Amino acid sequence: MKSRILYALPALLFAAFVAYGLLPSPQAGGLHAASPVPVDTTKKGAQIKIAEDSYDFHDIEQGTKAEHIFLISNVGTDTLVITSTRPSCGCTAAVLDAKENKIPPGATSRLKVTFDANNKPEGPIQKSVTITSNSKENADAMVRIQGRVVKSKLAHKTMMHLDGIFQGDCAKCHVDKGKGELGARLFEADCAICHGSKADDKPGPELASEAMLKHTPKQWEHIIADGIPNSAMPAFHIRNKGPLSDEEIASLVEYMGAFKKEAERNNMLKSTTGSTSTGSAANKTTAKR
Ligand code: HEC
Ligand code: HEC
Repeated sequence: MKSRILYALPALLFAAFVAYGLLPSPQAGGLHAASPVPVDTTKKGAQIKIAEDSYDFHDIEQGTKAEHIFLISNVGTDTLVITSTRPSCGCTAAVLDAKENKIPPGATSRLKVTFDANNKPEGPIQKSVTITSNSKENADAMVRIQGRVVKSKLAHKTMMHLDGIFQGDCAKCHVDKGKGELGARLFEADCAICHGSKADDKPGPELASEAMLKHTPKQWEHIIADGIPNSAMPAFHIRNKGPLSDEEIASLVEYMGAFKKEAERNNMLKSTTGSTSTGSAANKTTAKR
C-alpha cells in the first residue's frame, strides 16, 4: 500500500508538468531526480515497473484522437533501456522525456499512447503496446487501452446553429475534406455529410431523392450558393462566407445533373421491363425519411 502512495506522487507531479507545459528543460535530469521511485537493491539489473498498465477511454468520437500517458519506472539498479514500443494496429506510442529511451534507476518516464479514431468504424476497441526493454523481469511489458468508437455526431449533442459551420474546428469536418475537390468528390466531402446515401439519420434528403433532384440546375446553384433560410442547409458561396467558388458550385451542379440523368435512365429501363409501376423518376426515387 505504501508503494501506491509513492507512485501517486510522481503521477501528480507529471500531471502538473503536463498541465502547465513546464517540463523542466534546464535540468533535463531534474524530472527524474524530482520524483524518484524506490529501487529494489536486492534485484540486480534494470527492472521495469508500470504504475497502471491499462486505461479505458470509454467513448471516443469518430474523427478525434484519444491520448493517454502511462508512467514507466525503473525500480532496478541498472539503467533501463527501452528498445522498442510496438503498438497493435491503429495506435501510436512514443516515449517522452527519456534520452535515447534510457531510464536511470529510480526514474520514471512517460509513454504516450495515441489512438486515432478518424475513419474508424463504430464499436469497441482494444489495443496494446508491447514495451521491449532490458528489464530483468517482464522484458516484454504491455500496456493496454480500450474504449468504444462512437459516431461523430456526438459533436452535435445539441442541434447546432449554422453560424460558424465553415470556421475553426467545425471546418475540419465541414470544409477541409472538400478542399481541392470538384464534382462527385466534392459532393462526397461537403454535402454527403448531411445528404448521406445511407438511411443514416442525416438532416438532409439523400441525393437520390425527389427532393434533391426535382430542381433545375439554376435552382441547385441558388440553393447551394445561398442555402435555405431557416433550415440546416448552409449557404456555400464565398460571398456568403462559405467555402465554395463559382467554379466549385458549377461542378456540383454538373455532377447532380449527371446523377439525375442516370437516375432517370435507370427508372426508364425499369418501367420498360414490364414493371407494373408507371412511376416517374420522381416517385420511384423518393427517399424514405
Ligand atoms: C467531427 C465532425 C464534425 C464537426 C467537428 C462538426 N460537425 Fe457539424 N456535422 C457533422 C456531421 C457528420 C453532420 C451530419 C449530421 C449527423 O450525422 O449527425 C453534421 C451536421 C451539421 C449540421 C446540420 C444539422 C445538425 O445539427 O445535424 C449543422 C448545423 C452543423 N453540423 C454545424 C456545425 C458547427 C456549427 C460546427 C462547429 C461548432 C460543426 N458542425 C462541427 C460533423 C461535424
Ligand atoms: C449541415 C448540413 C448540410 C450540408 C453540409 C448540406 N446540406 Fe443541403 N440541405 C440540408 C438540409 C437540412 C436540407 C433541407 C432543407 C429544408 O428544406 O428544410 C437541404 C436541402 C438541400 C437541397 C434542396 C432539397 C429540397 O428539399 O428542396 C439541395 C439541392 C441541397 N441541399 C444540396 C446540397 C449540396 C449540393 C450540398 C454540398 C455543397 C449540401 N446540400 C450540403 C443540409 C445540408
